[in-house]
Amino acid sequence: TGIVVLVSGSGTNLQALIDAAADPAYGVRILAVGADRAGIEGLRRAEAAGIPTLVCRVEDFASRADWDAAFAELIGEHDPAFVVSAGFMKLLGPAVLGRWTVVNTHPALLPAFPGAHAVRDALAAGAAQTGCTVHVVDAGVDTGPVLAQATVDVAGDDTEDTLHERIKAVEHPLLVQIVGRAAREGITVSEGKASIP
Ligand code: GRF
Repeated sequence: TGIVVLVSGSGTNLQALIDAAADPAYGVRILAVGADRAGIEGLRRAEAAGIPTLVCRVEDFASRADWDAAFAELIGEHDPAFVVSAGFMKLLGPAVLGRWTVVNTHPALLPAFPGAHAVRDALAAGAAQTGCTVHVVDAGVDTGPVLAQATVDVAGDDTEDTLHERIKAVEHPLLVQIVGRAAREGITVSEGKASIP
């Protein structure tokens, strides 16, 4: 099953998928890696693995809608079965979301701490536990139906960095597991619920 993975930064989740996909039994082929900006570590990881890359920058378009349409066009050239957003920090628009199921990973236990600063927000709120959520993207910000979650205990001396590192340690295998299952078994979204048989 072919997928396109979207990144905006360091791409450690992408790397976990690249490593898993090296085993044919995993059943996932990463057809391309897409980004909203050039020069990021995530794109370098794709290039190192011999995976085609595409960059679509919001600044290069007159409107958000034009960007969304162009992004859908570029992704469509690779004809993925579904799309994985792995640390992709822009909100996707209807052209992309209307065409593919997009699986996202978020570093908090949604619906708690949506948005771009989930780890910092969990820490600031004094949460005893946080974690990560793999979910299907809908039109809202981190509101789509949940596929799986993993929990991490917050330590008294955690900083945003140490906590995010421990979240990533559970996030990588969870994303790999769910993307693999979605690829091998298919993913259904209906009436606001997502499931993998
Ligand atoms: C991940 O924790 C993801 O959930 C969040 O940002 C981080 C991206 O890390 N949105 P990476 O680019 O996969 O290393």
